[in-house]
Amino acid sequence: MIALGSDHAGFDLKEAVIEYLKSENIEYRDYGCFDRSSTDYAIYAEAACNGIISGECDKGILCCGTGIGMSMAANKIHGIRAAACSDYFSAMATRLHNDANVLCLGERVVGKGLAIELVKVFLNTQFEGGRHARRVAQIMALENK
Ligand code: RB5
Repeated sequence: MIALGSDHAGFDLKEAVIEYLKSENIEYRDYGCFDRSSTDYAIYAEAACNGIISGECDKGILCCGTGIGMSMAANKIHGIRAAACSDYFSAMATRLHNDANVLCLGERVVGKGLAIELVKVFLNTQFEGGRHARRVAQIMALENK
């Protein structure tokens, strides 16, 4: 199950992600927002990330204007490793090396076609583990300092 969230500036991109997930029969839960009215991204970052922390969802995709506000908010939540990506290599590498569980996308940064490629590689790339597991554990230990 994929947790989705956006603010108004990422709403249309989230709709495109939903269309893709539907076409692939990938289950998702949409934590809002639900229209283009101006709103605040941290609300939806928190809601969607809580869906991951609760175990209901495995990963998340958050959309805002840049992807940056969403990633900043999401990374404040214990257990979340969110990456704002606008290129293919980073979306792949953040799964391979960082075991990112949230992909953040900027509707004002990437076109829909590229965004869907980023979603595909993010969802289909497995964490490499090994030395990267030690490093991810070090990141997560920072939450307790
Ligand atoms: C909204 O105008 C915009 O600031 C927001 O979507 C996001 O880009 C923030 O990082």
